[in-house]
Amino acid sequence: MNTPKITAMFNIDFPLFAFTHCRDVVVAVSKAGGMGVFGALHFTPERLKEELAWIEEHIDGRPYAIDLVMPAKFVRSEGGEEFDGSKLWELIPEEHPRFANEICDRHGVPPLPEGLELRDTSSLAWSERVAREQLDIALEFSPVLLVNALGVPPADVIERVHGKGIKVGALVGRVRHATKQKEAGVDLIIANGHEAAGHTGEITTMVLVPQVVEAVAPVPVLAAGGIGTGKQMAAAMVMGAQGAWCGSLWLTSAESELDPLLREKLIEASSEQTARTRCVTGKPARHLVTPYTEAWDDPGTPDPLPMPLQTMATTTALSRISRSLHKQEGARELATTPAGQVIGMVKQVRSCKQIVQEMKEDFVESLGRIDELMS
Ligand SMILES: Cc1cc2nc3c(=O)[nH]c(=O)nc-3n(C[C@H](O)[C@H](O)[C@H](O)COP(=O)(O)O)c2cc1C
Repeated sequence: MNTPKITAMFNIDFPLFAFTHCRDVVVAVSKAGGMGVFGALHFTPERLKEELAWIEEHIDGRPYAIDLVMPAKFVRSEGGEEFDGSKLWELIPEEHPRFANEICDRHGVPPLPEGLELRDTSSLAWSERVAREQLDIALEFSPVLLVNALGVPPADVIERVHGKGIKVGALVGRVRHATKQKEAGVDLIIANGHEAAGHTGEITTMVLVPQVVEAVAPVPVLAAGGIGTGKQMAAAMVMGAQGAWCGSLWLTSAESELDPLLREKLIEASSEQTARTRCVTGKPARHLVTPYTEAWDDPGTPDPLPMPLQTMATTTALSRISRSLHKQEGARELATTPAGQVIGMVKQVRSCKQIVQEMKEDFVESLGRIDELMS
């Protein structure tokens, strides 16, 4: 069986996929000939509906995708059920929130206004229950692709999505995981290397991509992690990927809704200034290194809790930082965001259209260079 062509599968001109939480980025990239992928995590059902409706209103009929997060492992009771929010709070030891708040205190970040107790429920989005709610909403709209991060989508989910004529994709960081996804019947696999922003494994893109391509053939593969130029995209495609899936790049785009101060920090950062840390979500995820992430690496600090408890435990501290970001130097220094090593290559803010266009030109040029070298 031949591998289906991704450009034909999704009716796109250029196989560049843009993972983002910003609806403007989704629309701009899809209109430029790539594929915008809307990250649904953190959106309440009402907001998600609004965002998807806005995208469909503005995208001129171009294809787009939605990314949901259904982790294979989630904190469960001994009976195997998911805990509800209030039970989860009981599992959080005192020392974790205390330690996170002490980091803020040491940097002079003001406390939250009196009486404002934060009981973060967004982290509960990392549950099958909330992701299923998001799936129900997604299926009221017309994405061409639904992607699940952090595990094999349940069989009934794949069946429902396929029943609507929508393709299913999944992110993987290991060959073994890719094989499981293929067995589950996904249509597209994103091989996400160590360099990537967010949750990421130990194997680099260069080593992961060709192995995943071979293991899952004829299922098509996209390469993710560390790709920010047309040259890198061409390299990934020479290794057998059919295109690139990028995340960090769009954080620095003109359309990004990331706070401008954080965008500035990313533009200034070098590739050494990101690291995998469990201090934000409880699972290893690559973030911009700041005194906040470094503090969790010090000897004798509490070991981060499993997902979603770590996010819940640190939600007050992280809210202190974000509330004071524009008012206080300590908060500015501590603030972090998921970011991949590729941010060291981005030195200016560009529009999404310009990013896609420059990647296309660079892609063509780099293939020409190889031709020239070999002729
Ligand atoms: C701010 C941010 C948040 C992310 N959140 C998610 C997410 O919710 N779901 C997901 O599948 N991937 C998420 N990712 C990872 C991207 O999908 C992608 O795999 C990764 O950014 C690729 O590597 P790159 O950053 O080097 O381009 C996130 C990436 C960034 C930059």
